[in-house]
Amino acid sequence: MPYTLLIRNCGQLLTLSGAAASQPLTGAALHNWQVLTDAYIACEQDRIVALGPMAELDATRIGPGTRVLDAGGRVVMPGLVECHTHLVFGGNRAHEFQRKLQGESYLDILASGGGILSTVRATRAASEAELLSNALHHLAGFRRYGITTLEAKSGYGLDAETELRLVRVAQEAGRQQPARVVPTFLGAHVPGPEYKGRPAEYLQMLATEVLPQLDPAEVPFVDIFCEEGAFSVKESRQFLEQARQRGFQLKIHAEQLHDLGGAAMAATLGAVSVDHCDYLNEADAARIAANGRTVVVLLPLVPLFLRQDVYAPGRRLIKAGVPVAISTDFNPGSCPSKNLWLALSVACLKMGLTPKEALAAATLNAAWALNLQTEIGSLEPGKRADLLLLDVQDYEEIPYWLGENPVQQVVIGGEVQ
Ligand code: NIG
Ligand code: FE
Repeated sequence: MPYTLLIRNCGQLLTLSGAAASQPLTGAALHNWQVLTDAYIACEQDRIVALGPMAELDATRIGPGTRVLDAGGRVVMPGLVECHTHLVFGGNRAHEFQRKLQGESYLDILASGGGILSTVRATRAASEAELLSNALHHLAGFRRYGITTLEAKSGYGLDAETELRLVRVAQEAGRQQPARVVPTFLGAHVPGPEYKGRPAEYLQMLATEVLPQLDPAEVPFVDIFCEEGAFSVKESRQFLEQARQRGFQLKIHAEQLHDLGGAAMAATLGAVSVDHCDYLNEADAARIAANGRTVVVLLPLVPLFLRQDVYAPGRRLIKAGVPVAISTDFNPGSCPSKNLWLALSVACLKMGLTPKEALAAATLNAAWALNLQTEIGSLEPGKRADLLLLDVQDYEEIPYWLGENPVQQVVIGGEVQ
């Protein structure tokens, strides 16, 4: 069979392969994955079928129907996997930017009825068509940054009907453009305004009225925000246990602003990821490392945007054997940026990751955080042909060109975009 797509003359082909495939990359494996120089990669339809040194390219597989791209000595790598976003929302919070600059904290703004609750008002007021058009607009932006798979949380409806609408919008957005969208149910973002001061009752409503309407085969993850002003560790545990019983995989927002112990709790329940972790302590990091599966999702643009000095201890987490991923956390409150490349740079600058670790964190380990590691995140025969051709000659340049978008061409499922 002739190749349908061939990318030749890759100066560096970042394969992200080479380590055991049985668990997310940790420790030295985050760094030691394979880079092929002067290489090619070939696809048939939506699958990668071959890769290797240019000298070993089998010219008999190049036919009249083969689309050939010449990388001209530049870097080719897997599509970025964005494993934590709040894609679907109405309005924006530009008006709160000024309050933040004048010194109001994230939790102060939330407690005054702003923050997440302000986006909830705008989201409830928006029609399903408007929400879809916003989500598609943001997805187009993500694709320009080379994001080929993206997780999309609900969480700005906070009532049964609107939360289900947000999940539907994420699913529809996935159907209407080429990047893969993975919906997550985050109805437990904060207690809905109708349940002010009654978080446990709100969670009970979600568990009995909303979770039964969701199919874990289509909406694989349930997430919760464990924080002061949101949900306690005890409430979070109970809700996550209920979700697990219904067949959902688990995620948590934890240790973002305080060390409450939510991340280690979720890891003991077998969560696929525990996200934020800026305030994670060493004993809890060791507990997470011990389970060998739970990925800590680092969100370095969030402390930057919230004017916080505390960043998740990336270097220490890696030393402790914790698998880390990196994401933007794209949302209107704590990170209105889709620039995952910038997040990689800030992870290097403020969390102590090396460029190779950061690249693994935004590809293969991010795929593990979505339980899609057998399908995406590395360049290996059999995996989906999600590829990026970058406008740099060396992977070390990627986090170095601060704030730039290195993407020259995006391939999703074997189709050049
Ligand atoms: O992941 N921390 C909780 N949720 C989001 C922010 C949501 C918002 O402020 O609108 C986050 O940072
Ligand atoms: Fe988030």
